[in-house]
Amino acid sequence: MLKILVLHGPNLNLLGQREPGIYGTTTLATIDALLTQEATLVGAEVTTLQSNHEGILVDGIHNALGQCHGLVINAGAYTHTSVALRDAIAAVNLPTVEVHLSNLYKREPFRHHSHIAPVALGQISGFGADSYVLGLHALVRYLRAQPDLA
Ligand code: DQA
Repeated sequence: MLKILVLHGPNLNLLGQREPGIYGTTTLATIDALLTQEATLVGAEVTTLQSNHEGILVDGIHNALGQCHGLVINAGAYTHTSVALRDAIAAVNLPTVEVHLSNLYKREPFRHHSHIAPVALGQISGFGADSYVLGLHALVRYLRAQPDLA
């Protein structure tokens, strides 16, 4: 059974009511339920963690070491600011897919740079809640292609 940790960064707890024109109306609880359901279909198990605090997300990434096969992360605004999250992902060296609800490259220039991207397998941005589902599937497909996990 593949174990995957899904991390949600700051302000994502307010999904559903937060700037719905940009982030949609789907709540975080619905996204988590969707991911749990999708994971079951592909023989994976998802654990989710949302925090508005950088250090808690860093701790979550550290705690995944030896417990999870990979990470899906929407670091929210920390995407653009956090060397600590980037370093945590590099430190645990777990395959990581970066996801965003909105298309970062259609938005303000300060959102065009990601500290996570250089340590991620890839990035999915702009598909709303589906970005998470696509990210989960991309990670599972990557992991299944690894000889030791197939
Ligand atoms: C976001 C994009 C970020 O720029 C923003 O700070 C967020 C959400 C997204 O999912 O589109 O909080 O990561």
